[in-house]
Amino acid sequence: IQPSPFQLIDLAMVRKIIQPRQPFSHKGDFGHAALIAGSYGMMGAAVLCARACLRSGVGKLTCHIPVSGYTIMQVAVPEAMCKTGDNWDHAVHDLGKYDAIGIGPGLGAHEDNSKLLKAVFEQNRRPMVIDADGLNTIAQEKTLLNSIPPGSVLTPHPKEFERLFGKTTNDYERIQTALQKAAEYNLNIVLKGRYTFIASPDGNGYFNSSGNPGMATGGTGDVLTGIITGLLAQKYAPLQAAIAGVFLHGHAGDLAAAYTSQPSLIASDLIDFLGQAYQSMC
Ligand code: APR
Ligand code: MG
Repeated sequence: IQPSPFQLIDLAMVRKIIQPRQPFSHKGDFGHAALIAGSYGMMGAAVLCARACLRSGVGKLTCHIPVSGYTIMQVAVPEAMCKTGDNWDHAVHDLGKYDAIGIGPGLGAHEDNSKLLKAVFEQNRRPMVIDADGLNTIAQEKTLLNSIPPGSVLTPHPKEFERLFGKTTNDYERIQTALQKAAEYNLNIVLKGRYTFIASPDGNGYFNSSGNPGMATGGTGDVLTGIITGLLAQKYAPLQAAIAGVFLHGHAGDLAAAYTSQPSLIASDLIDFLGQAYQSMC
């Protein structure tokens, strides 16, 4: 039997990544994140993502959302600032000022999504997080793959992965494709599943050890996007943010399931248990 070429993401690995706060630190030290998320009928995804981003420890958060979601977001997440407009042109400008941007949760499938992504990629060249309908938009217009900011983190579930990179017949093939595409496009690809696999641009692969089937419920992916975006804004390197993010997310899920049971676990529980997951870091 050959030893696995991949590393296991466990508590010991993530403890080395997560840094304690310095006594004299202030919110400027923990970055300003932006989320571009939500649409009419899917503001829950944006709210979950925003709450998770805040719980991950980010200094400040601005949510770029449609007008229809304005009151929902301001009431559900008072800690977040909001930018809205009649269309994304109004809602999305001056993005270069953020330390990290996450895009996709609850965005919906809209014709102007590709225009939105182009504008975002032009204004922001720092590594960012792309999920859900952000990924589906790129899958429909594959040339966009070449303009994603280098080092960005993509978080597809297996269906989104196949839309982006083509059909695969088994897990082994998917992992090989992930490694190949991560190197080709200089991206960190977080292939979500029972044991989430991260392919880094330098050719390394990592399997996450935390998480449970209680997390197979709507919205848990949106929580992950918020956590990784928050860690990126706190200046963790993209691969470190992805590794720590998937582990903390799964660990919060394990702590939540121990409390609520797997069947009754809902995505908000992951956010509620993120604090306890962080407590395991020291
Ligand atoms: N064991 C461990 N972890 C699991 C399991 C499992 N059996 N099942 C799911 N998870 C974890 C995954 O690893 C991932 O982090 O839960 C998360 C699920 O993420 P998604 O598949 O993105 O699910 P969801 O949050 O419902 O997505 C919401 O994204 O894909 C779009 O169209 C979809 O709008 C929807 C949105
Ligand atoms: Mg999802």
